[in-house]
Amino acid sequence: MSIDKCHIVDLPKIADSRGNLTFIEGQRHVPFDIRRVYYLYDVPGGAERGGHAHKQLSQLIVAMAGSFDIVINDGIKEKRIHLNRSYKGLYICPMIWRELDNFSSGAVCMVLASNLYDESDYYREYSTFLEAIQGKT
Ligand code: TYD
Repeated sequence: MSIDKCHIVDLPKIADSRGNLTFIEGQRHVPFDIRRVYYLYDVPGGAERGGHAHKQLSQLIVAMAGSFDIVINDGIKEKRIHLNRSYKGLYICPMIWRELDNFSSGAVCMVLASNLYDESDYYREYSTFLEAIQGKT
């Protein structure tokens, strides 16, 4: 998979003087049924998250509050993306190595995922991920 398949999704934003509203629908704003939601919060300054790739899982990552960076890598190309709006999501397809860093104070990172948690879906070693990309495993 190429990082070119990962892209920013512009989510609907219902602007209102009482506060804005954004919604996300499976198979409409993301190309999968949403089977799991998880979020990172209270991330200490300087901490790094991620550091893995998924074999089958697709995800949409949204900065619900604050900001952070996501570095996506397909084994050939790498790109750093800054997320800081709760109406923009980063779609990440399977087989993309990702690292999250540069978390602002109070940042909340919400992840919508296409499947339930399954440790066997992870590549947690970059070398193993690279071998898989190169068809060695
Ligand atoms: P991990 O996916 O490594 O976190 P991140 O990518 O955000 O840095 O998960 C950290 C721990 O949490 C690990 O022990 C697995 C567990 N976990 C679950 O039990 N369920 C989940 O849905 C997720 C995402 C993680």
